Amino acid sequence: MLDAQLTPQPIYLKDYTAPIFTATHISLDFQLDPQETRVVSKTRFERINAGPATLVLNGSHQTFEGAKLDGVEIPPSQMALGEDTLEIFDVPDRFELEISSTNCPEKNTALTGLYISGGNYCTQCEAEGFRRITYSLDRPDVMATYAVTISAKKDACPVLLSNGNPIANGEAGEMHWAKWEDPFPKPSYLFALVAGQLEAVTDHYKTASGREVTLNIYVRKEDLDKCDHAMLALKNSMKWDEEVFGLEYDLDLYNIVAVSDFNMGAMENKGLNVFNTRYVLANKDTATDLDFDLVEGVIAHEYFHNWTGNRVTCRDWFQLSLKEGLTVYRDQEFSADMGSRGLKRIDDVRSLRAGQFPEDAGPMAHPIRPDSYMEINNFYTATVYNKGAEVVRMYEALLGKDGFRKGMDLYFQRHDGQAVTCDDFRAAMADANGADLEQFGLWYSQAGTPQVEATWSYDAAAQTLELHLSQSVPDTPGQTAKKPMVIPVRTALFGQDGTPMAVTYAGATAAEHRLMLTQAKQSFTFSGVENTPVPSLLRAFSAPVKLSTAHSDQDKIFLASHDDDPFNRWEAMQSLASDIILAKAGAAEATGAGTDAAALIGVMKNALESDALDPAFKAEMCLLPVDNVLMEQVAVSDPQAIVRAREAIRQDIAAALAPLWEQTYHEMAGGGDALDRTARSARRLKNVALGYRMAGAPMDVVAECYLQFTDAGNMTDALAALGQLAHTDTLERTNALAAFYETWRSDALVLDKWFSIQAGCLRENVLAQVLRLLQHPDFSAKNPNRFRSLVGAYAFANPKGFHRRDGAGYRFLADQIIAIDESNPQLAARMIAPLGKWRRLAKPYCSDMKAQLERVAGHPGLSKDSTEIATKSLA
Ligand code: TRP
Ligand code: ZN
Repeated sequence: MLDAQLTPQPIYLKDYTAPIFTATHISLDFQLDPQETRVVSKTRFERINAGPATLVLNGSHQTFEGAKLDGVEIPPSQMALGEDTLEIFDVPDRFELEISSTNCPEKNTALTGLYISGGNYCTQCEAEGFRRITYSLDRPDVMATYAVTISAKKDACPVLLSNGNPIANGEAGEMHWAKWEDPFPKPSYLFALVAGQLEAVTDHYKTASGREVTLNIYVRKEDLDKCDHAMLALKNSMKWDEEVFGLEYDLDLYNIVAVSDFNMGAMENKGLNVFNTRYVLANKDTATDLDFDLVEGVIAHEYFHNWTGNRVTCRDWFQLSLKEGLTVYRDQEFSADMGSRGLKRIDDVRSLRAGQFPEDAGPMAHPIRPDSYMEINNFYTATVYNKGAEVVRMYEALLGKDGFRKGMDLYFQRHDGQAVTCDDFRAAMADANGADLEQFGLWYSQAGTPQVEATWSYDAAAQTLELHLSQSVPDTPGQTAKKPMVIPVRTALFGQDGTPMAVTYAGATAAEHRLMLTQAKQSFTFSGVENTPVPSLLRAFSAPVKLSTAHSDQDKIFLASHDDDPFNRWEAMQSLASDIILAKAGAAEATGAGTDAAALIGVMKNALESDALDPAFKAEMCLLPVDNVLMEQVAVSDPQAIVRAREAIRQDIAAALAPLWEQTYHEMAGGGDALDRTARSARRLKNVALGYRMAGAPMDVVAECYLQFTDAGNMTDALAALGQLAHTDTLERTNALAAFYETWRSDALVLDKWFSIQAGCLRENVLAQVLRLLQHPDFSAKNPNRFRSLVGAYAFANPKGFHRRDGAGYRFLADQIIAIDESNPQLAARMIAPLGKWRRLAKPYCSDMKAQLERVAGHPGLSKDSTEIATKSLA
């Protein structure tokens, strides 16, 4: 037993077997109490496969009281209660099992199972939290209907919620109860219960087929004025899914609850989504424009899960990307349709590069369908979610929009109500289109970001262009000698006049062609190429690969000024900027541009002065790649050299364009506080301009920046100004931080921003400040949002402050991980990633970081969650 705890055993996909028994109906009775909640479950079990007559249930973190089989008390001789199982011997093929147990919500700091947040009861069951509530077959391929009765004190819990429809309620003295029924069979991970003092914002939606759906968002009374945006996003999502995928909501009630203690973003429980407050609450005074977008995206994501996740669910947790990759793809598409498709693509690729590429190149690299895990919670990763979404997007690139829709339709037609695999999804896509997707399946099994190289030769006499593409997939832990993948490469050839030429490839003449790279090396010939072209490759980032091209600096400048694919236009600038910064940092990987920022500055000036470009796109064109993305491009990096080089280039840009930044700032300042796209776009560019002005001549601009802070009528402008002031050593900094605290001390989400800004600032010795804030009366490590706002902001988003030469940043993070691991293993495990980068850092960073990782791994009693990440990161 002890050994098993010290070295958690991996679970393998290849070991999957179908369950012997399934549960068809589960009736749950909750008597809520903070110290001792009693749960009585009655489950109808049925044999569905051959095997022993022993029922093995999952269960932990509760006190077992007794069990009855078909109404008869089970004697101790017929049961075995283990550390995390309950076995019942000699069971018939069909029976009802009643189990009584108690648990203590108040002491549940892991935030999985039944716990208390802000005085209210709530549950989180994905992935394996249901087993902390009652003994059950806690696996996604066991799907049952549920009936749930909740009873609690009327005054403490006026609101009692569970999945599905409310069917009865009543009261007795100081207690009351409510009964809920969910008619749709679901896996246990989608069960939810919420009870407490909450108030609802209510709205209605009529589906395409005429169903009247009541929509509720439950929050604390103080937050009722922050729900409008989430509600609008929900209605827009419902409409969008009808229009784009023909998918309608299937119950008469859709409830959302916002809770402040939550390990992740939100949870798609059937008919009762539970959200981190961060992704629900927003108004112009408390939320930035970015926050508004995040709320919209997460609301959509959870809503879309109703079909991709709930109606069709996962057979086992290895298939997680089946629902997550697909649902992220769907929320990305929704946001693209609600706002700007080009900007959304830039955002999504930026976060893929910042979050997923390092994972794919590091010790935790895994395919989007992992083949083993120790703790499933560790596999809710950027790879499963974001690379998974890119893989779904490639089906669309391969099959076209209509073909993709046909595949989706067939997927639902075949699998509604089932628990299925990623292979089932791929088969539906293939069968609906008569396509061969055999090789495409490698995207599910091979880890690592494919590297694609592109060269070309132009024959002016023949007017042909030969494009040579090659690919290789790097080795990753446990995987070598990989096979070539299917890589869609959207390609256009730009003529000297700056527009794409209509050229012929494979018999078709068009301005853009979809090339399929399927071999290690391949050549593609275009004809009718009238003048020397500049190829625009991998347009809209048509595959999640690292592309290196034979583009000269001149080519990049050309594309950055002319490409009509917004992503590639931005990409050309990013690539130029990376070259210049990496060269300045002395990285061997730097190519081309040298250290002269003039070319880059020219590109930015052109963008700023353009009449055609949207201000928000101009803002993107002027932002340098972040340190973490730059570090990712270097095999072994000196983080401080990269930070210094980037900062130097930023200063050059600030100085060279100083009058233009000032002018842009004032031109963009008239937008007021409106939340429409135009006003938001202007704010974005204004605040990028403010950043450059403060980088160039902070002392000349600080008063104006402070004025923006004090006069702001919206959080975007206030926070942008505060963020700039925070980098300085000025009285304005002190005053602004103090004023912000006074204004927002009782608004948790806004106070999180106050912590983050200080943890992320670029002053010397930010660690000392972080340590002081750790002692602040408003700091609490128990609240994941607050913990991440301080410790996470420092370790993930402040490379300058974190990568200290004395290693104190790493030591601090290790201390924090160890401290939080005991109460919240999921949160602790997610904080280890920054320490997993040691192999790719230069001395002394490398050895200092490794030593801290060893300290975490060796900590006695470390959770299974953290043990898996720490030991794999050292291996
Ligand atoms: N299924 C959730 C989503 O992506 C993710 C999630 C919410 C989760 N809470 C969790 C995953 C807790 C693991 C543990 O929408
Ligand atoms: Zn999800």
